[in-house]
Amino acid sequence: MNAEGFASIAALVKARSGIVLTPDKEYMLETRLTPILKAEKIADLDGLALRLRDPRAESLARAVTEALTTNESSFFRDGKPFDHLRRIVPKMLAARPAGHKLRVWSAACSTGQEAYSVAMVLSELGVRHAEIFGTDLSRDVVERAREGVFTQFEVQRGLPVQMMVKYFRQEAARWRAVPELRAMTRFEERNLLSDHRMLGRFDIVFCRNVLIYFDPPTKGRVLNALAAQLAGDGVMYLGGAETVLGLTDRLGALPGERGVYAPAALRAGAA
Ligand SMILES: C[S@@+](CC[C@H](N)C(=O)[O-])C[C@H]1O[C@@H](n2cnc3c(N)ncnc32)[C@H](O)[C@@H]1O
Repeated sequence: MNAEGFASIAALVKARSGIVLTPDKEYMLETRLTPILKAEKIADLDGLALRLRDPRAESLARAVTEALTTNESSFFRDGKPFDHLRRIVPKMLAARPAGHKLRVWSAACSTGQEAYSVAMVLSELGVRHAEIFGTDLSRDVVERAREGVFTQFEVQRGLPVQMMVKYFRQEAARWRAVPELRAMTRFEERNLLSDHRMLGRFDIVFCRNVLIYFDPPTKGRVLNALAAQLAGDGVMYLGGAETVLGLTDRLGALPGERGVYAPAALRAGAA
């Protein structure tokens, strides 16, 4: 494809999602967008770039953007954040009025493994009054998360066998989350770049393995927007390759806890 075509698709994807596509990602455009070219009977990527210039090509623009998201996820990914969650939730609830509904946001939840992992931790802790809100830009993954059905391969990644047996029911070659877990979760399509103020306060936010796709100004903007929805004593989990350093002054790292950030860490002078 020509440089102009690449630049215009990259600009569209960046504007719609924040995802930065550098020229070395051209191979990715080719592999991920070929099914769209075939379905739309468009000869090549330059033809697609031209078609996307039409402001009426909204659903095509959406399909292209979603095809360029990376939806890799697994249960209890990276382990440590969930160990921290097990420790922090009882403390958090002790500091809240009786009957408080614990609100957890899994922002960029992909197919839902993160949200269901949180639901299992809360269930093991006996926390019944909770809402786990999973959101993602991609319609397909949100639908899959809502369904709560995982392949054998997916349940084998990170989900301990005893948890699988306790919280999932086998349906032929797939595993469906039990109603108890599904009742704790709610999934919605949502762009991290949109206005989140109407969502209210969250006690805990997971925003992992998505900021890596953004440039620093977009990372800062998203972190500030998420921090604004976080309770004063809340915590935010980022992915292992992500940080708040130099991006926001609303969150600080919790000392000794990899990937855990909090507004309170700043007040305590711990950042
Ligand atoms: C690699 S997955 C991470 C899933 C999960 N958080 C985890 O760590 O396992 C990244 C997800 O971010 C989503 N994403 C990318 N840009 C987004 C945006 N602007 N708004 C919401 N979700 C976005 C993608 O659709 C994808 O499902």
